[in-house]
Amino acid sequence: MRSATASAPGKFVVLGEHAVVYGKPAVVLAIDRRFRCTVTESSRLLLNGMPDDLSLHPHMRYILGEHEVHSISIGTDSDLPSGSGLGSSAALSAALSCAVRTLIGKPADEKDIIDEAYEAEFSAQGIGSPMDTSASVHGRGITVNIPSDGDPLWTIERNGNKWEVCDIHAPEMTFVVGYTGIKALTGPLVEKVRRYKDRNRFAKDIVDEIGSITLDGTDALRRNDRVRLGELMTADHKLLSILGVSGPELNRLVDAAAECSYGAKLTGAGGGGSMIALTDEPEKVCETIRLHGGTPMIVKTGVPGVTVDKTS
Ligand code: PMV
Repeated sequence: MRSATASAPGKFVVLGEHAVVYGKPAVVLAIDRRFRCTVTESSRLLLNGMPDDLSLHPHMRYILGEHEVHSISIGTDSDLPSGSGLGSSAALSAALSCAVRTLIGKPADEKDIIDEAYEAEFSAQGIGSPMDTSASVHGRGITVNIPSDGDPLWTIERNGNKWEVCDIHAPEMTFVVGYTGIKALTGPLVEKVRRYKDRNRFAKDIVDEIGSITLDGTDALRRNDRVRLGELMTADHKLLSILGVSGPELNRLVDAAAECSYGAKLTGAGGGGSMIALTDEPEKVCETIRLHGGTPMIVKTGVPGVTVDKTS
């Protein structure tokens, strides 16, 4: 039986989540935690060795449907908890798209995979930006809609919004992720912000303000100015809290980590999931996160995007 294994990284959002859905800027770094998919020729549809109709796995169903593959064995293995705000569904979509294309001998450049992975995310969530899937496919770091950036890697348009995605070479900084242990679904949180923004003029101002903080923060990141970047991350967390996407567990971890960090904020959709802290004292931040009920991870950035890991 022929098989192919591909993997793709998770990510954290340095600045700009939620506002990016409306075409505002964002900056995102891929992390050394990956989602791996192995696909093997099979006479029936199997998921991790068991028969499955994928009705609970819309991303997978979408990708197999695109290639008219109806019987295949999919094996998954992930370092990323689902619903943790670390981009696990984007990494799954990128890895599966790449693995299936490799198995069936279809070309798989970054743009083919990003288009397919974003469609899979969109069809599952019904709303959202291509930020997560772009970070997972490209790896390293990306910016979205930063006007001073050069030629985009790709541009994606949908529902009147446009996202220009560029590579960013971020200097080495230490980030600690704190997972609340609470799974949160991205779709309903994005929808909640959309409703708030449609009803309330101040919510629209907050989205704009997140956009300007992200522009300043991307400059600070490039200059390796941790003090300024940290301040902006903490300010961004406050704005995201006003939008209603934080929560007591996230706030507890952010407040605790802020004591020994340049700054801290939720990352991803919020509502649970994870926070990040920018720090020179990662062990101290890990200890604080543990003491406040979270699971810490010191993450490495500068990692590759989607890769074919094995074929046989
Ligand atoms: O929590 P995650 O990893 O699904 O990230 C969601 C990021 C949002 O900006 C909230 C939504 C989006 O599609 O950009």
